[in-house]
Amino acid sequence: MGQRSEIGRRNQIRNVSLGLGSYTGTNSIIKNARIGNYCCIGWDVSIGGGQHNYRHVGMYTDYWFKRVLDREFDSTDERVLETVIGNDVWIGAGAIINGGIKIGDGAVVGAGAVVTKDVEPFSIVVGSPARELKKRFPQKVVDELLRLKWWELPIDVLSANADLIRSEMGETVLEQLRDLVSRHRGGRDV
Ligand SMILES: CC(C)(COP(=O)(O)OP(=O)(O)OC[C@H]1O[C@@H](n2cnc3c(N)ncnc32)[C@H](O)[C@@H]1OP(=O)(O)O)[C@@H](O)C(=O)NCCC(=O)NCCS
Repeated sequence: MGQRSEIGRRNQIRNVSLGLGSYTGTNSIIKNARIGNYCCIGWDVSIGGGQHNYRHVGMYTDYWFKRVLDREFDSTDERVLETVIGNDVWIGAGAIINGGIKIGDGAVVGAGAVVTKDVEPFSIVVGSPARELKKRFPQKVVDELLRLKWWELPIDVLSANADLIRSEMGETVLEQLRDLVSRHRGGRDV
């Protein structure tokens, strides 16, 4: 778990890394996932469950064959796929994100969505199956944010500039963000 990250009550978390300052709401289940910084994960969210092989006669996974039928198989049949969630991602209540999905930086997953395909950075997806509703910002701004990666700034820098991060996006704010990132990356041209 990253610094200042938080797991809500009654969560089930297995084989997960949670970035800086990311949190989950109550009753969420997350398996086999890599989650970036400053993500807001709502309540009753499910991320990264395995798949059972529905082409088999019976759909037990090898774990249950062993447990119930005392039979062990060499190869594991449950497909365990890593789910990757970027930085500054907001996942609404009750969303389900299938195993192996990649959710780009800055994306929003609407309440109750079932995400079966990768989600582009800064896009807002809703529904079952989830479809893109819109982008958070114009593509030019998205490209710049993906270059600036404000979520990689040291936590004390973000703390001192929290009012900027909390500002509504616009030309001036983007300019200020550019300056901030530039100052804290050793003046390197960003
Ligand atoms: C996805 C979301 C961020 C979009 O917010 P928004 O930009 O204000 O969207 P709007 O209310 O303008 O809706 C735009 C359209 O999308 C639909 N829509 C919005 N959210 C939806 C959702 N979760 N599922 C399906 N459709 C949705 C609306 O019905 C509307 O459809 P229409 O154009 O046919 O009328 C928001 O609706 C949402 O789901 N937020 C999550 C809230 C939540 O879970 N909070 C608790 C945990 S943090």
